[in-house]
Amino acid sequence: MAGREVDMWRYDALLPFAAGEAVSLGEGGTPLVAAPRLARRVGVRVLWIKDESRNPTWSFKDRSNAVGATHARALGSPALVVSSTGNAAAATAAYARRAGIPAIVLVAKSVDPIMSGFVQSYGAHVVMTETKPDRWVMMKHCVEAWDCYPTGNYQTPPVGLNPYMTDGYKTIGFEIWEQLGRRAPDWIFAPAGYTNGLAGIFQGFQELAAMGLAAVPHLGAAEIYGSLVRAIEEGSDVVQPARIDRPTVAISIGTSQNTYQAVAAIRGSGGTATQVADEEILSAQERMIESEGMFPETTSATGLAALIRELEAGRISRDAEVVIVMTSTGLKSLNVTAHLRPPVPMAHSVESFSEVLKATYGFNPEAE
Ligand SMILES: Cc1ncc(COP(=O)(O)O)c(C=O)c1O
Repeated sequence: MAGREVDMWRYDALLPFAAGEAVSLGEGGTPLVAAPRLARRVGVRVLWIKDESRNPTWSFKDRSNAVGATHARALGSPALVVSSTGNAAAATAAYARRAGIPAIVLVAKSVDPIMSGFVQSYGAHVVMTETKPDRWVMMKHCVEAWDCYPTGNYQTPPVGLNPYMTDGYKTIGFEIWEQLGRRAPDWIFAPAGYTNGLAGIFQGFQELAAMGLAAVPHLGAAEIYGSLVRAIEEGSDVVQPARIDRPTVAISIGTSQNTYQAVAAIRGSGGTATQVADEEILSAQERMIESEGMFPETTSATGLAALIRELEAGRISRDAEVVIVMTSTGLKSLNVTAHLRPPVPMAHSVESFSEVLKATYGFNPEAE
């Protein structure tokens, strides 16, 4: 790999397409940031943050969509299609542009206008449906009647991405392995919607293990409504839908039903599935900002929230080395957390300026 570009295509020997034929915006090659203060704060020996917000559309979805757009172009697909209100839609729209293929994006009425604006800015054909399930009906039609290339799930029960696209996520595992000096950490935690990300990371480490290059780390999946937790607890291969009994700040993984690939990755790695609540997610987001200056999307703070819960329950050793996958940036969820920030105060004079700092932020420059 010496002399290769530092992006995910440096591992193309283990991907379905060669770097030279890839539809790429330079995705991958994201930093693995040491988080020593956060490690001390949560009480674990070593903590790293894999910062996937440094990708071209600021989320890890760029890795799967780079492979998907490459595949679609090779197949001569007339359009990409996805049903998503967030990161998957943005990545699909961007890579469709890069490939010179149209993108159809189906969104529900509850879509955050920032995200739909983001996706429209890439020139995607964004269409709203009355209900969330309608999105999959339309998507299925795009695939079956028009031969469009699906870059997301549209099946019930959900199965997740096609295997070509999941392959893109193997490169998160390869990079972590290389960045740690060609070895695996003890644990990797990530948010889990349909768990394509962790399933890809699992597959990546399985391939490294098959080549005798690394052990497979334990994988920790963070979820909101608990369908995966239940399947793991019950030892079942079938993930039954959970009840959506409340809204969540983790908007990107607010799904009722996880996938079989999630069960396989958790069970196969000796990992865990953990249900996390909004207070834990917001507190984890705050800790990543305060301790390390890293700003995750609310959804992307769920991995840390799950780790904290598992450490406190004594299910993970405090002597472990852990990687948190920060799947996207906090800029994407600014609307979700807007009510937590104070209004920006106005200073009318130098005197009122220091008063404002004290009153709003508890900061006294004279005392520093
Ligand atoms: C920011 C973010 N993190 C995590 C996920 C979960 O993705 P998956 O469950 O496919 O790994 C998503 C997407 O659904 C997302 O947008």
